[in-house]
Amino acid sequence: MLPVKFSTLVLAAGKGTRMKSALPKVLHRACGQSLLSHVLDAANKAGASKHFVVVGHGREEVLAELGTLGLAFAEVWQKEQKGTGHAAQTALPVIGNGADTILILSGDGPLIQAATLQEMLAAHAARKADLTLGVMELDHPTGYGRVILGAGGSVKRIVEEKEANAKEKGIRTVNGGVYVVSRKYLAEFLPKLKPSAKTGEFYLTDILALGAAKKKKLFAFHMPAEDLMGVNDLEQLAEAEEVLRRRQRSAWMRAGVRLEAPATLWADSGVQIGAGACIGPNVVLKGKTRIAEGATIEMGCVLVDTVVESGAEIKAYSHLESSIVKSGSHVGPFARLRPGTEVGEEARIGNFVEVKNSKIGRGSKANHLSYLGDTKVGEGANIGCGFIACNYDGVSKHETVIADGAFVGSGVRAVAPVKIGEGAYVATGTTITRDVPADALAIARPKQENKEGYASRLKSSMLAKKKAKG
Ligand code: UD1
Ligand code: CA
Repeated sequence: MLPVKFSTLVLAAGKGTRMKSALPKVLHRACGQSLLSHVLDAANKAGASKHFVVVGHGREEVLAELGTLGLAFAEVWQKEQKGTGHAAQTALPVIGNGADTILILSGDGPLIQAATLQEMLAAHAARKADLTLGVMELDHPTGYGRVILGAGGSVKRIVEEKEANAKEKGIRTVNGGVYVVSRKYLAEFLPKLKPSAKTGEFYLTDILALGAAKKKKLFAFHMPAEDLMGVNDLEQLAEAEEVLRRRQRSAWMRAGVRLEAPATLWADSGVQIGAGACIGPNVVLKGKTRIAEGATIEMGCVLVDTVVESGAEIKAYSHLESSIVKSGSHVGPFARLRPGTEVGEEARIGNFVEVKNSKIGRGSKANHLSYLGDTKVGEGANIGCGFIACNYDGVSKHETVIADGAFVGSGVRAVAPVKIGEGAYVATGTTITRDVPADALAIARPKQENKEGYASRLKSSMLAKKKAKG
């Protein structure tokens, strides 16, 4: 199969009225990524050399999104959206002589796959076609343009749903909105489009009938319906997202990732999981989360933009955001890592521990009910139950340092900025307000007083008071 050099023309100027949303349709997200970026990803993987993107409705927002994708694109500004044919007409002068073979895609078709596109491009080249149309067979073709086929897989024309008579509506071969076409063909036929008498729109689909009349070679390329499904409303968006998730889950399982309950894994497209990792039920993985080989994520965890290194274990119901969990460490159950947290190798963050913008060194432990904010913990330190880093004075955040090998007893509060030195010992219940030197014992708690036999006296006097009040 010879590689075909091609550019894409992505139609993305429409409003998406049926979405009933202020957001331009192509910016709606499936698996954490805009519909438009799914389309461009597939085109890129298929080997497109350049992308021409037709924008119009919500132009600024769509351009901003395109700017984040890091690919070479040229804008086609369709100021008024007068139909898909008009969108392509607007693109012609921008494309100029810059491309010979053009792959036209819809910005609202996020399920198209690179491999399918490559097959289509190869078929187009092999048949020396002027235009190849991506079609699918649907039991319920409502909403799609119906394709009138000729002999030998050729195409005569496309009838839009709005223009179709009862007999044409019965046709199940429909236009998927994906075309491979030569620039010459577009240049010859786009200027000849006439607006629909019914809608006033210029239909791109009409270039087929125009070409057929001139004996051009137009072929239908049958694709899996799953690749061509368009997103026109929020229900179709959810359906498309489910397809993306299913593909992703099977790819992971084929690559050796153990998914204990595949259907319940919700992961964004940017997520990576290494072989031998195990993901429990009802896990949500978002953004650029990366889970290395052999890591375990137990049930009910939510990870956002977080890196979990090999062999680390995130126990059930933990919430991690913009954090790094290093090899062999354990987090949770019920732990919360907020942005800027790094949990070092073999370290442990236990239940009901919240960590924010903090670094926990190798082998250190904070196992129960603690808050570590803006805290630097060295290696091999032990932080007892109920530690609180008092990092905020109402105006600024301050740092707490707990050096290597320090032992912090239970119920300790550290009023930052403060440093607990190497190997220091902080007695249970202490409120630390000054630095603790290395190897020192810090103890700061009121002296205890025991009043013998006082408990029952106290209780009866309280009961008497209550009675007197009524
Ligand atoms: C279109 C096809 C239909 C096909 C279906 C496949 C036409 C006339 N109809 O219908 O045959 O079955 O796709 O999904 O082409 N757009 C612009 N500028 C415009 C109008 C639309 O850029 O002026 C863009 C939209 O943003 C969208 C794409 O073109 O990404 C398709 O437009 P849409 O209105 O969704 O067309 P369909 O009715 O789905
Ligand atoms: Ca559509």
